[in-house]
Amino acid sequence: MIRTPNPVLDAVLTRRSAPRLTAPAPSRADLERLVQAAATAPDHGRLRPWRLVAVTGDERARLGDAFAEAAASPEQARRAVSKPLRAPLLLSIVHRSVPDHPKVSEWEQLAATTGMVVTLSLLLHSHGWASIWRTGQVVEAPQVRKYLGVTGGEQLLGWLYVGTRHDDDTSPKRSPCDISARIRWTHDGASRAARR
Ligand SMILES: Cc1cc2nc3c(=O)[nH]c(=O)nc-3n(C[C@H](O)[C@H](O)[C@H](O)COP(=O)(O)O)c2cc1C
Repeated sequence: MIRTPNPVLDAVLTRRSAPRLTAPAPSRADLERLVQAAATAPDHGRLRPWRLVAVTGDERARLGDAFAEAAASPEQARRAVSKPLRAPLLLSIVHRSVPDHPKVSEWEQLAATTGMVVTLSLLLHSHGWASIWRTGQVVEAPQVRKYLGVTGGEQLLGWLYVGTRHDDDTSPKRSPCDISARIRWTHDGASRAARR
């Protein structure tokens, strides 16, 4: 039976991505603790096919330079250069699948990485920080991958921008998902009872 209030349900329902983030971000020790917890997300074979590159301070400007170098036009470069400054901490999400694993397909490994990131975003939210997962074509850019040290067999899945939500950030209310058409029960209660 679902009893409310419940802190996990509350965190899931109240988490909203924050397009603009300010300081403070979690300290290194706090972040490491939360990543340790997020690493418990479901992961077939416990392969942990991910790593994070944390970018803070002036390094964000260097990442912005890499974004700008990868841009297709001067106008795009002008906009790209300041993008990493939208949060005090950027967690670059690097995925590395074990190819041809005997039991765990590559999509399962990608699902494990995604589960970790979503768990981390919920944990951050439940401790008062906010985040947004962003990607873009820059994830493929050699300049960006080189700056972050992403190697050939690895996939850059974007960044979890992390910090504190601006006071004036009022995300519009989320419209509820109509789940009626998204869950199909193979047997209803009556037929199950009849089979017993
Ligand atoms: C893999 C992934 C990549 C995303 N990339 C972007 C992005 O580049 N830019 C963006 O504005 N939102 C992006 N989003 C969506 C936001 O992270 C966020 O989920 C969305 O704005 C809905 O807000 P909510 O999380 O508060 O419901 C991405 C989400 C996922 C899962």
